Amino acid sequence: MAEGFGIKLQQRVPHLVGFCYSLPAVSSCSFHTFSPQLSRVVKRGVIGYRLPRRGVLGIGVSIWSQLMNMAGNFGAKSFVASARQKGAVEKVLENVDWPEQFPFKEEDFQRFDETPDSLFYEAPRFVTHIDDPAIAALTKYYSEVFPPSDTPGVALLDMCSSWVSHYPKGYKQARIVGMGMNEEELKRNPVLTEYIVQDLNLDPKLPFEDNTFDVITNVVSVDYITKPIDVFKEVSRVLKPGGLAIISFSNRCFFTKAISIWTSTGDSDHVLIVGAYFHYAGGFDPPKAVDISPNPGRTDPMYVVYSRKLATA
Ligand SMILES: C[S@@+](CC[C@H](N)C(=O)[O-])C[C@H]1O[C@@H](n2cnc3c(N)ncnc32)[C@H](O)[C@@H]1O
Repeated sequence: MAEGFGIKLQQRVPHLVGFCYSLPAVSSCSFHTFSPQLSRVVKRGVIGYRLPRRGVLGIGVSIWSQLMNMAGNFGAKSFVASARQKGAVEKVLENVDWPEQFPFKEEDFQRFDETPDSLFYEAPRFVTHIDDPAIAALTKYYSEVFPPSDTPGVALLDMCSSWVSHYPKGYKQARIVGMGMNEEELKRNPVLTEYIVQDLNLDPKLPFEDNTFDVITNVVSVDYITKPIDVFKEVSRVLKPGGLAIISFSNRCFFTKAISIWTSTGDSDHVLIVGAYFHYAGGFDPPKAVDISPNPGRTDPMYVVYSRKLATA
């Protein structure tokens, strides 16, 4: 079933080498869309490093190598070798010296298909978007960090939800809200106690009171959000102080609907990008990354970037 979903990004952008030779003609992997400012995310603290010229090397490889240099662990290893080393991606958000200004530009959030998302999601897709081992790994992760099932007063929100949320079997709370684009999918999701159809790219405001949720999840969908800072500010607003936001993703996507900064880069960059959303939205603890890939190199990878709303916010 997962095979039906989009494409595997690293089949298109193999190992983040940055050359576009394997990209389809319709690809949004055009390096002129990269924000030169993105490089500043990791540029500081790296002595004597010169960025490759745009149009020659992808920004991903520069981010990767600089981050690895900062971490000091993978200097001599290739991206391929280090990416397959379980846990390497977790280091991406360690010791990031974020630039003062949000380092992305408007064009980084453009998609190849800019038609209304409601058209793309009009027909339900009763498929899974990652393979079974990746789903199992995510469910296990949830079982370790979620509040116990059926805890009075606990509320969860699954953003960009569908007919499945991958929550632990039998998990329930008095309030579990799903937000997504297709009503038929949401209606079939057994874990939800209510759902809302809302296009977050048209209206990023979450229709909830401040301090409503204990946990907010978002699975393999953050790459479709074109106004991430607005959405992450809303996530912060509607989380309870100390509440947990869990953003998970693999390396598959609906290529034409994903933002260009995502389709142009690889797994480690995606971790950095989501980390940047938390950082620049504000109101969160420093974001952290976990690599929960069940069988690195053999089945779908699975990464989590998470943060808690500041307890004092
Ligand atoms: C790849 S599916 C993932 C669905 C589900 N989270 C899962 O793990 O199976 C992407 C989801 O993102 C949601 N989505 C895409 N664009 C959106 C938008 N503009 N506003 C809100 N949700 C959106 C859709 O509802 C769609 O179900």
